[in-house]
Amino acid sequence: MQHAEWICIVDFGSQYTQLIARRIRELGVYCEIHPFHLALEAVSQKRPKGVILSGGPNSVYEEDAPRIHEEMFELGVPVLGICYGLQLLAIHHGGAVDPAARREYGKAELRVDNQSDLLKGISEDSTVWMSHGDSLSQLPDSFEVIAHTANAPICAIRNVEKRHYGVQFHPEVVHTQDGKRILSNFIYDICAAEGGWNPRSFIDQSIEDIRRTVGEGRVICALSGGVDSAVAAVLLHEAIGERLQCIHIDNGVMRKDESAQVVETFRDEFHIPLKFVDASDLFLGKLAGVTDPEEKRKIIGVTFIEVFEKEASEFSDAAFLAQGTLYPDVIESVNFKGPSATIKSHHNVGGLPERMNLSLIEPFRELFKDEVRNVGRELGMPGHILDRHPFPGPGLAIRVLGAIEKEQLDLLRNVDEIFLEEIRSAGEYDNIWQAFAVLLPVKSVGVMGDARTYEFTIALRAVTSLDGMTADWARIPYDVLESISNRVINEVRGVNRVVYDISSKPPSTIEWE
Ligand code: XMP
Repeated sequence: MQHAEWICIVDFGSQYTQLIARRIRELGVYCEIHPFHLALEAVSQKRPKGVILSGGPNSVYEEDAPRIHEEMFELGVPVLGICYGLQLLAIHHGGAVDPAARREYGKAELRVDNQSDLLKGISEDSTVWMSHGDSLSQLPDSFEVIAHTANAPICAIRNVEKRHYGVQFHPEVVHTQDGKRILSNFIYDICAAEGGWNPRSFIDQSIEDIRRTVGEGRVICALSGGVDSAVAAVLLHEAIGERLQCIHIDNGVMRKDESAQVVETFRDEFHIPLKFVDASDLFLGKLAGVTDPEEKRKIIGVTFIEVFEKEASEFSDAAFLAQGTLYPDVIESVNFKGPSATIKSHHNVGGLPERMNLSLIEPFRELFKDEVRNVGRELGMPGHILDRHPFPGPGLAIRVLGAIEKEQLDLLRNVDEIFLEEIRSAGEYDNIWQAFAVLLPVKSVGVMGDARTYEFTIALRAVTSLDGMTADWARIPYDVLESISNRVINEVRGVNRVVYDISSKPPSTIEWE
């Protein structure tokens, strides 16, 4: 997509780099993240309004510390260095960093010395979030200090003529009281950005792009029922109408009534051409007797591709495949992406486009998940689709531990439904990243009425998380847990015990398989 203006965020591996991008976009300006060694290439293709240098885990004097092409400082556009970025900027201009300085993590009181530009409107003592080992020990020539803290006499600096600024703290994190104002001062007052990046402008521009790319052609889209593919389908439908063909495959391991709801919502309410394929017998047949989690995942991935390919061949005139790929999957991050990808093979439709000779359309390659939700809202999509928890491609197959029986899937579906109903009615659903039930291959003894029972155990899993990479167990109130447990044991035959999973990720993972 062509953007009228953009801010280039140079990534040095900070855990907060994506947060910087989200803040800038919330402020209405489009931005992109580029790793330090590729940033120069990105800015030479299209000149940004400004450059932000992220923080990073290294010390600037380390031998293999990430550096930036010197030309990045000579583009003539404003630069804001954050933490590690500040130190690089300072060294470039002849300052010095003291690796032995007092380390500072957490909150600090910022004393603002100059409020004229970057720190305009910031109270004289404002709380900021620090996370650094090294500090500036010598101010570069031609720079001045605009703020300090008790431990960092040189905490924010500027060179007005060059429009180079740096802060030791992290304005992008919520604990920095006036962080958003500081970023806004930078992008609007210093970089003179015009703003106007919002869901509506994104939709208008995407529709134009899609029409231009697709021409008179047809697009097929695998509609899972998840947020990303759902919003992609509605957006494409706005752009090309009946030339969009969606395919929804029931793989036999969906939640209760999920496929029926997808058909009802998209075919009946949104009037989107949708082919529904019930392939549950095929999937369950292939999964029969398989106990190994990775094996299950692979079977589902491969079978999905087979079925999709076959069903899509009916629309042989389609030249495009739409996917709801998000920006975090596209960013070439300096950070390693966390353990999930290697610990579990995620099922997606990667590889399909080449096999089927289709060109990819990925309207959300530039968006974060919350931005996709906002686009969906702007397109008039209902909250029950947009705010739903993530659901893994292999579905309930990785929540019935070990070998899968149809009966057990049905049992789990009923438990899952009760769990979600209860947390919704307790007002907890939106506070939770993901909530689901797991059927353990463990039977235990219980007593119902006067009779002994020997039945299955259900584990309830509910986590809070920002991105699924790390997670904590959700503190669901005891009385809510109590009513879930009561309902499950009373209403679902075959279960006589409910336990709550209180492990965080890491070292556990969110799903059990
Ligand atoms: P884990 O279990 O790795 O899960 O902590 C992290 C997040 O990823 C989801 N997940 C998947 N999503 N295909 C998906 O589309 C998969 O194969 C898959 N496996 C796990 C999981 O539900 C959680 O949100």
